Amino acid sequence: MGTRKALIAGNWKMYTTVVDGCRLALDVAKTAGNFTDREVLIAPPFTILSEVAHVLAGSDIIVASQNVCWAEKGAFTGEISPVMVRAAGGSAAIVGHSERRQIFGETDELINRRVQGALAFGLLTILCIGETLDERESGKTFEVLAAQLKKGLASLAVADMAKVVIAYEPVWAIGTGKTASKEQAQEAHAFIRETLGKIFEKTVAEQTRILYGGSVKPTNIDELMAQNDIDGALVGGAALDAESFGRIIHYQ
Ligand code: PGA
Repeated sequence: MGTRKALIAGNWKMYTTVVDGCRLALDVAKTAGNFTDREVLIAPPFTILSEVAHVLAGSDIIVASQNVCWAEKGAFTGEISPVMVRAAGGSAAIVGHSERRQIFGETDELINRRVQGALAFGLLTILCIGETLDERESGKTFEVLAAQLKKGLASLAVADMAKVVIAYEPVWAIGTGKTASKEQAQEAHAFIRETLGKIFEKTVAEQTRILYGGSVKPTNIDELMAQNDIDGALVGGAALDAESFGRIIHYQ
């Protein structure tokens, strides 16, 4: 993995309200304990971002939003601006999650605007990409990943990439209990790294963290993290349980 610092990220999706969310955040902070060789991030729902950030203030856990608008403010009903995320205590954002793409119709172009906005306001930006089962079965995985990367990262400079993390999440593995095998994940990650080198330059390929997401559990985290090009995980279901997420944070 070289100099890339591992990142274990928990995406709480549309789960938790203030009481159970704060309890979960506290429990995660407790089970996470002290860590220096890795980073830990939690993305709670917008409605409890500031409460969770408050609870985690004394820890090193990064708080992220699950999506973000590009504009600082304006007539964007239903959206949250990067300035609002910062003011609520967040310092990162997930962008382009497959649920945003598939259920809410977000396009690569829209997602690219979100990425640019998040970066303009200094947020660590996790861009999610991944193929559907159909795309995998018809042999289009690499084509889809390359296109999502190219479009999602359009107009970015090499320097911007210091604040970008890519999450590879095969859509067929999200919430299904079906994890990509470590070989399938490694193959996709290596391809993503190579593509980053082509879009930008070699240093970007070497330095950008690429997380795996899709049914990551305490039982598969170790073998996933042992792969050369897997630098962390984006965890959904298992992040809602402090013990499971704690075990994932403490992968070996
Ligand atoms: P999962 O979700 O871990 O529940 O599969 C991952 C994600 O959607 O980020």
